[in-house]
Amino acid sequence: KRVAILISGGGSNMLALVRDMGPDHPARPVLVAANDPAAGGLARAAGLGIATAAVDHRPFGKDRAAFEAALSARLEAARPDIICLAGFMRILTPGFISRWEGRMLNIHPSLLPKYRGLHTHARAIEAGDAEHGCSVHEVTAELDGGPVLGQARVPVLPGDTPDDLAARVLEKEHLLYPAVLRRFAMGDRRPIQL
Ligand code: GRF
Repeated sequence: KRVAILISGGGSNMLALVRDMGPDHPARPVLVAANDPAAGGLARAAGLGIATAAVDHRPFGKDRAAFEAALSARLEAARPDIICLAGFMRILTPGFISRWEGRMLNIHPSLLPKYRGLHTHARAIEAGDAEHGCSVHEVTAELDGGPVLGQARVPVLPGDTPDDLAARVLEKEHLLYPAVLRRFAMGDRRPIQL
């Protein structure tokens, strides 16, 4: 299986996925694309010999469809079987999502269906939750709403700042996402709990 990974920033999740895709893995990375040419993950991917693409969303302004057409051109050229959103911070239109439905995954830093959207760690602390975590789900037109393929849990500790909690969750993301992708690439959609 051919995997394209979309990032917006440092790409730590992308790295975890790429490092797990060794010779024994049913999939291999064929493209790392970012909506920001300055995304640190692009240089990290290039350093690992993976093809990269930078499609800056800013010149397209509010025209999401035009940005996605430019991104799709680079994606189609890589002929991916699976797309992994990994720290990708752009909302995708239903048109783009339907093109890849059933073959596009995302990792979200909360125990879905709780805390869809942004600032999930601060919201969990604010709510006084004892537990928090991350979820890998299939991407559908509903933001952070598709079938959950895996979750990992962490405790919320007294005195946690959002950054403390984010760091604890991120460590689990780097374990969960590769585990889910391995299974998904073999056609197995049974959920994983870490
Ligand atoms: C992190 O906040 C992570 O929780 C979320 O995307 C952000 C950046 O991740 N999934 P990465 O280091 O770019 O993978």
